[in-house]
Amino acid sequence: MSIEPQSSSEFSNEALCELVKQSIPKHVAIIMDGNGRWAQSQGKPRVIGHKAGVKAVRRAVSTAREMGIGSLTLFAFSSENWRRPDKEVSLLMELFFTVLQRELKLLHKNGVRLNIIGDISRFSERLQKQIASAMAKTEDNTGLVLNVAANYGGRWDIMQAAQTLAEKVESGEMSSSQFTEEALSQHLCMQNQPEVDLMIRTGGDFRISNFVLWQAAYAELVFTDVLWPDFDEQAFKDAVAIFATRQRRFGLTGSQIETLQAEQ
Ligand code: IPE
Ligand code: IPE
Ligand code: MG
Repeated sequence: MSIEPQSSSEFSNEALCELVKQSIPKHVAIIMDGNGRWAQSQGKPRVIGHKAGVKAVRRAVSTAREMGIGSLTLFAFSSENWRRPDKEVSLLMELFFTVLQRELKLLHKNGVRLNIIGDISRFSERLQKQIASAMAKTEDNTGLVLNVAANYGGRWDIMQAAQTLAEKVESGEMSSSQFTEEALSQHLCMQNQPEVDLMIRTGGDFRISNFVLWQAAYAELVFTDVLWPDFDEQAFKDAVAIFATRQRRFGLTGSQIETLQAEQ
């Protein structure tokens, strides 16, 4: 059976089969939710939950490395999280700064490439410098790619890519007919990484909250009630096990997928 790609953005049979077959996702994105409720359920201030969340981040990074996942994208601060009380926002910024400083050595030693995605121009000068130097230090690493989404929004990402392309059209560098899906993808965050295969949300809610919208167009979604600070190695492996049981069809029928797999 031949399934002909209709446009450059569609998959070849081989690429499709590869995607359908994988039991370990190449790219996992996690909405790390539930820190505040975790702390409040113990009668503690929300910030204690964020601090406990850092430990869960460390565990998730090490589990991702152990499982051979290529890219891990963690939602740390959304473009909407500025709406929180000033005190919580500044505590989160401070935490982000100290964690970057403290964890960098180990990440680098473990060959992790750190990539901060989001509009960092709203952060303090000090934090922006810290981000730039952390990314520069690890840029040649070839292990896990750790994308940390900070002041990130899926709509912002699509808009900034569209804006760049619009400017190119305006300046005559490209024509409007070259403003394609492919071209837009090339200007999004994480453009050189595989699209998101698995998106996990902890904390019991069933929504995407403006996380990677474009890149997760065909992601498998796994929602868990586990609050982020309790998300451990087993919970991560359970989510990947659920992923492995899903039949990804990418618009095809189930029997087309079975035939394609049998032929490869
Ligand atoms: C996620 O946990 C972390 C951030 C958004 C920074 P929350 O802080 O949203 O925790 P809940 O959802 O209020 O429990
Ligand atoms: C999503 O969690 C953002 C992060 C995990 C950083 P939120 O707690 O901000 O999401 P909503 O507000 O419940 O949708
Ligand atoms: Mg929340």
